[in-house]
Amino acid sequence: MWVQSLMALVLLSTSASAATSASPKKVLSKHATILADNSAKFAFSLYQKMAKEKDVENILISPVVVASSLGLVALGGKASTASQVKNILNAAKVKDDQLHSGLAELLSEVSDPKTRNVTWKISNRLYGPSSVTFVDEFVKSSQKHYNCDHSKINFRDKKSAVNSINEWASKSTDGKLSEVTKDVEKADGAMIINAMFFKPHWNEQFHHKMVDNRGFVVSRGYTVSLQMMHRTGLYGFLDDKTNKLSILSIPLAHKKSTVVFFMPHHVESLERLEKLLTQKQLDKWMGALKQTAVAVSLPKVSMEVSHNLQKHLGELGLTDAVNKSKADFSNMSGKKDLYLSSVLHASALEWDTDGNEMDTSIFGTDKLKDPKLFYADHPFIFLVKDKSTKSILFLGRMVRPKGDKIRDEL
Ligand SMILES: *[C@@H]1O[C@H](CO)[C@@H](O)[C@H](O)[C@H]1NC(C)=O
Ligand SMILES: *[C@@H]1O[C@H](CO)[C@@H](O)[C@H](O)[C@H]1NC(C)=O
Ligand SMILES: *[C@@H]1O[C@H](CO)[C@@H](O)[C@H](O)[C@H]1NC(C)=O
Repeated sequence: MWVQSLMALVLLSTSASAATSASPKKVLSKHATILADNSAKFAFSLYQKMAKEKDVENILISPVVVASSLGLVALGGKASTASQVKNILNAAKVKDDQLHSGLAELLSEVSDPKTRNVTWKISNRLYGPSSVTFVDEFVKSSQKHYNCDHSKINFRDKKSAVNSINEWASKSTDGKLSEVTKDVEKADGAMIINAMFFKPHWNEQFHHKMVDNRGFVVSRGYTVSLQMMHRTGLYGFLDDKTNKLSILSIPLAHKKSTVVFFMPHHVESLERLEKLLTQKQLDKWMGALKQTAVAVSLPKVSMEVSHNLQKHLGELGLTDAVNKSKADFSNMSGKKDLYLSSVLHASALEWDTDGNEMDTSIFGTDKLKDPKLFYADHPFIFLVKDKSTKSILFLGRMVRPKGDKIRDEL
């Protein structure tokens, strides 16, 4: 008897919570949920590798898109070339077909422009050398699951190969990404390219007219001039005095995702902060955010960033796919004639004032009194976190925004 009433209670409470949430949540399937969680964990490992690389300034990666490119590797790979994908996504128990359908489900859920109200254009292409023949079955499955198109290219004519890659990327991002690569280093393998354009649409817009020129301190003695946008509002905020950083969370439209900013109190290299950045610490921080009046100033700039992830994926355990003498992509080409020579992951992100109407009813009230300051005028880390799937849509850092150097008075 009490089991029944307990059940009734559980049902009651779940339906009650469903009723109070603004829109019905589309819950991911079990395997898509595992992949969402693990791609988020994987995101930090990948980020850490990239951050340690010399000469890398701005970083911008979409972990869910990287995960789907890994899915493509698994789809075309055999034996350990394929199974290593599952290892690095910590999804050894997920069946092959569930891996592909799960990754597809996750990406289509988080990138749906209609329900999300953000602009996120994602194009994927697999390039192979002129000699390759893509297997029909693979072409079909990779279009179906990963929305990936295929092209052969004469890598030996480097200049025209580079041009045609950049042309494709530019065209597929409506001109937002003019260059994803300057060179094709290796002329004999398969190349995966992701070309993206992302434009956050704030849940509450910034003032279109409150935009002015400010300085962004790249490092001591090096300041660039850029536009900044401003507004005061109620946001999730934390001043972590122990770790000397401020954290700010700004919801995107429909509040299905938020952009979270991590900014050290003072100008410094981001190395110290990056060491702290793990899934566990992120959860801790997110749990400690408090709705606070904050006067926010953010750069209003566009970032175009392109990374070759091939080496990093190798370091993280995808050792066979990237190794010419070990890779087995015979599900892709019918032969053992390919390896993964490049993974170009390129995105254009436009930070702008656009968003839905502001809630002006709190202006001039006590709720916005004595706002904390969040003045993003020096290097910071940010991520775009999805609420219902808990996946990370983007993770990056702004170290050197576009802008002219201005003379420092320091
Ligand atoms: C977001 O929603 C607003 C209001 O409905 C609309 O005007 C705008 O075009 C939408 N933007 C995107 C990118 O979907
Ligand atoms: C590629 O695999 C071969 C054969 O196992 C190995 O000897 C070689 O060190 C590997 N190359 C790299 C770059 O890891
Ligand atoms: C690879 O191809 C073999 C047949 O050659 C097939 O049995 C296997 O399921 C394929 N693997 C994947 C991951 O599609």
